[in-house]
Amino acid sequence: MTGTGRRSAQPPSNPGAAGSDAPGWHGFEPPLRGTPLYDDPFPAVHHLRTVAPVHETPLGAWRLSRYADCVRLLREVRCGVRRRDGTLPRRSEAQGPGEFMLQQDPPNHTRLRKLVSKAFTPRAVESWRPRVRAIVDAQLRTAFEAGEMDVVAELALPVPATLICELLGVPVADRDRFTVWTADATHGLAGNQAPPEVQRRAIEAAMGLGAYFTALIEERRRHLTDDLLSVLIRAEEEGDRLSPTELIVQSIGLLIAGFETTIGLIGNGAAAFARHPAECAKLRAHPEWIPNAIEECLRYDGPIGMTVRVLHEDAEIGGRRIPADAEVFAILWGANRDPAVFPDPDRFDIERPNAREHLAFGGGTHFCLGSHLARMEAQEALGALVTRAPRLELACDRIEWGPSLFRVPAKLPMRLR
Ligand code: HEM
Repeated sequence: MTGTGRRSAQPPSNPGAAGSDAPGWHGFEPPLRGTPLYDDPFPAVHHLRTVAPVHETPLGAWRLSRYADCVRLLREVRCGVRRRDGTLPRRSEAQGPGEFMLQQDPPNHTRLRKLVSKAFTPRAVESWRPRVRAIVDAQLRTAFEAGEMDVVAELALPVPATLICELLGVPVADRDRFTVWTADATHGLAGNQAPPEVQRRAIEAAMGLGAYFTALIEERRRHLTDDLLSVLIRAEEEGDRLSPTELIVQSIGLLIAGFETTIGLIGNGAAAFARHPAECAKLRAHPEWIPNAIEECLRYDGPIGMTVRVLHEDAEIGGRRIPADAEVFAILWGANRDPAVFPDPDRFDIERPNAREHLAFGGGTHFCLGSHLARMEAQEALGALVTRAPRLELACDRIEWGPSLFRVPAKLPMRLR
């Protein structure tokens, strides 16, 4: 078994908060990391949905935990990611202006997303499938010989890391440097609500990535190819479609968005299968169910717990009136376990007919641009692991969580025979 070189979870900065039921937070309060809530956030999310499905937190933001209300926020009401005056909430000066597409409203968002999305069409993604299959085969061959593996270090991490590096034209040899940077940089999304130490590391990681990509882009300008980085460089060189900063920020943003999340999907999915041997047996008997099984993994334990919008006009959601400029969080874990949409929601069921209706990729204008890629990588990696491993058994009592903002295992030791 190899080590990951990734840091383990940080100690809780507010351990006393675990399990508390202060009226303002209703038992689902930050910080979760390092508390029992983080190992299994779903009972607390169910409680929140039951007692206060639409509520204003003590910090003034609102949270939604019912499926229908999250859908209404993401797809129906007038909202964006910035306030009506164009400012980003929770952003500290040191973090810069926030030029990744997920931090932009139209028309900037439309322009950036259009440029990048050309590289992520279903057809383009399918063309990478053989490459992913080869990576998975090589990784599993070694693991099956050893009879044990760390699913994170040996499968969940190498698959997206190799692919996103190849896509962007980033030397795969530099991969290890990114694993720590990208995990730390995810906390930039929490802005000034993250603990100061976490904010500091997020800024340092962003600076490290910025310097790295600046050098890489300068080098690539001299030898443009057809990789995604070259496509973005051409857009920048051809005039006003992409500014130099936007070019660097989209490249880094894609690396972060496409990397840590996919590790989480494959890692959490592998853990779910290991804990449900009957579902493993079903998948072995019916490998044609792999795509639906991946949707169920996304629904059951997706790596991203929530996403956020700012209202651009007063809106009624779930019977409450929420004012314009309020920040509203859609708790995706709540939506994906809402019994009104997913009967017996805590059951991991790879045959679930409507598993694909989950909100793990968010929704509306900012719906995950990498969803096809993430699905394909997980279908190949988890599909092969579950259907080909003679045995899949967790070799740890408790999952150790990684340092990113998302719910991603740091390591996942498994016995394979
Ligand atoms: C399991 C894997 C993944 C999950 C669970 C995931 C989830 C998400 C979520 C929740 C959002 C925000 C959506 C919203 O607010 O409505 C998002 C946005 C985004 N994701 Fe993913 N993602 C994954 C993989 C990827 C990959 C592989 C890429 C690309 C390489 C990617 C690129 C993006 C981008 C660019 C955005 C911003 C889109 C925009 O603002 O228009 N993601 N993702």
